[in-house]
Amino acid sequence: MEDNSGHDDSTARVNDSSIAGGISRRLLMKGAAALGAGSLVSTSSVSAAEEGQQEESTLAEAPPMGWNSWNTFACDVSAALIKETADAIVESGMKAAGYEYVNIDDCWMTEERDEDGNLQPDPEKFPNGIDAVADYVHDRGLKLGIYESAGTTTCGGYPGSLGHEERDAQAFADWGVDYLKYDNCGDHYGLSAVERYTRMHEALEATDREIVLSICEWGNNDPWLWGHEVGGSLWRTTGDIKPLWTVDEDTWYHGVIDIVDMNEPLAAHAGPDHWNDPDMLEVGVDIDGYPGLTATEDRTHFGLWAMMAAPLIAGNDVRNMSEQTREILTNEAVIAIDQDPAGKQGRRIKNTDGADGTEVWMKPLANGDRAVALLNRGERTRPILTSAREVGFDVESAYIARDLWAGTVTATAGMIGASVPAHGHKLYRVERGQSDDAVPAALLSINTDEPTVVPGEARDLTVTFTNHAPSALETVSVTLDAPDGWESEPATATFHDVAAAPSIEGASGPENDAEVDWMVRPPQGIGSGEYELAVSAEFAGRPVSTTVDLTVDAA
Ligand code: GLA
Repeated sequence: MEDNSGHDDSTARVNDSSIAGGISRRLLMKGAAALGAGSLVSTSSVSAAEEGQQEESTLAEAPPMGWNSWNTFACDVSAALIKETADAIVESGMKAAGYEYVNIDDCWMTEERDEDGNLQPDPEKFPNGIDAVADYVHDRGLKLGIYESAGTTTCGGYPGSLGHEERDAQAFADWGVDYLKYDNCGDHYGLSAVERYTRMHEALEATDREIVLSICEWGNNDPWLWGHEVGGSLWRTTGDIKPLWTVDEDTWYHGVIDIVDMNEPLAAHAGPDHWNDPDMLEVGVDIDGYPGLTATEDRTHFGLWAMMAAPLIAGNDVRNMSEQTREILTNEAVIAIDQDPAGKQGRRIKNTDGADGTEVWMKPLANGDRAVALLNRGERTRPILTSAREVGFDVESAYIARDLWAGTVTATAGMIGASVPAHGHKLYRVERGQSDDAVPAALLSINTDEPTVVPGEARDLTVTFTNHAPSALETVSVTLDAPDGWESEPATATFHDVAAAPSIEGASGPENDAEVDWMVRPPQGIGSGEYELAVSAEFAGRPVSTTVDLTVDAA
């Protein structure tokens, strides 16, 4: 894996706490001093800062979408890779889904500037220069991004832009670059992050090209407090993402769920043209040395990035992606949550603690709908429940919940719930009212206090069906699917006349709940291990299902 020696930011930290002089002339002129807690100057008013913000052009009204070479290819970049990727973005439907930027990350240049001080594209990787690649990308209706660092070197050890901002920004503009990811490696010459990023912003502004500034200082200096003031449209909030769920130790790289926990509390700082960037996507990324994410985790990653209004920068090899990866990356209903014009970053509104923690997230949308995510961080399938009231609706009697992954549309009187698999999530767009294509919402759950069972011994499971719809259900039939050789009773359970759910108040009463005890018995002679049992209910032409794992102890 890549060497991370460039990540020691201790110099920057020391400098940043002592740089009252580091804030740029331009900021002071604009009076944009409301940089928040720990900021350097605090004389002028918030309204002056707001005025300053209004003057900025908005290059990233919605979170930027695109692709970047780093997560899969690291230093292995070339003109051929970028051109093939641009073609694949068009052909795969990613462009139609909104992906726009094709971004070259580190290692695109030679180890030295030329004798005049110009950056030189590596002649083997980019034989016709960056401008030829930019033309190719532009011809396909896409935009080109590039990478540099606000220090003496990039993280890969190539020449950095500190002290060369004007020359480099002009080169990027001349080449036709549209987006700059500006990293934090190398020596900082004692300059603060605010100073260094301001310098590049001013250099970009001095060109006649509109170039998005993507700040990448890993959240070390609270860029959410000053990033927009120094011209950033987005800023990384964390160290690097890797294709895994979680990292136990405290390292410079993180798993998806670690990043979620760091980025979520920053919601108030995000909005149009000033986005928190929890790093690029690992959906479909398969690289040596990392376990990768399961399909369930890939969906959770993408769904939570959408809930967090995160930039959606794919990091996989889009030239060779599976249909499953393509479907995740191009799910337009999920992308619409991310790109919603209200530009609000969603928040966790409810959670249970512990390894098996479950969470409810909510993102308010521009048209009054609410995006709701039910997240299961644990290792076993769990029911997760919330209500229209909890996610912020007023009292009404009917809602429509669209499951943005399954494509199903359900009618609910107010409860929103599902059985959610380990590391999985459910993502709904919830609106007021009723719809002819909506089928009744319901939740099926299995309760077992004791998940360990001995071969030949019976165990009772309680299966509960809850009608969440604003209408009664005539017939509900429930079946249990046990592994081969297991006994289970009854064969089918049938409930009649399950009452409508109460409106938004939400408490499920005895009438809209139906419960049955199920006996299951593993055969004698079965080996120890985990066995999955599935329960499904059918009603009004619609199935719902859940699973439970029982541990057989044959000892
Ligand atoms: C840093 C950044 C990464 C990537 C590498 C390139 O680690 O955080 O996203 O750009 O540098 O060297």
